Amino acid sequence: MLRNLNELDFAQLIAIEQLTQNAPWSRETFERCWQAGYQGWVIEFDQNVVGFIIVTMHVGESHILNLGVHPNYQRKGFGRKLLSHAINMARGKEVVITYLEVRRSNKSAIALYQQLGFVQIGERKDYYPTQNGREDALVFAKDLQV
Ligand SMILES: CC(C)(COP(=O)(O)OP(=O)(O)OC[C@H]1O[C@@H](n2cnc3c(N)ncnc32)[C@H](O)[C@@H]1OP(=O)(O)O)[C@@H](O)C(=O)NCCC(=O)NCCS
Repeated sequence: MLRNLNELDFAQLIAIEQLTQNAPWSRETFERCWQAGYQGWVIEFDQNVVGFIIVTMHVGESHILNLGVHPNYQRKGFGRKLLSHAINMARGKEVVITYLEVRRSNKSAIALYQQLGFVQIGERKDYYPTQNGREDALVFAKDLQV
């Protein structure tokens, strides 16, 4: 089941972050997003939150800030479902373009973004921390008018 994110989900989101990210978001980061009014959705399976997405929507554009699926539930279509939902919600708010950044090495996420029609429009050198240095971000965008 896909539903709106709420504050009670944070503990499960943090657990997913810690299992999937080199630099996981903290509770404070989730709380700041919540207080700022960012939008989010989760997918529940067997009454557990197994995936989430958080986005900002401004006049004309949206930004995917975070997307994660629990390792035990990856490759079952949940990431695609969350991202498609965020795109549809943005379309409903007359957003014309959606942006995101992704680590250059994150081949699975890049494959998902390309599958849903995102194209690379730029890169940011040394944008992300890694265990032994920095890694570039690739910037992707999807034109929602086509
Ligand atoms: C990226 C992520 C969200 C994908 O979620 P998911 O639920 O596993 O993805 P889906 O099952 O919806 O897959 C959709 C498509 O993405 C691509 N994909 C997903 N996982 C992949 C993998 N391990 N290898 C190659 N392609 C992959 C495929 O194109 C796939 O389509 P297909 O199954 O028809 O071939 C998930 O791997 C994840 O949480 N990764 C860690 C956190 C992360 O990197 N978040 C993105 C930050 S920018």
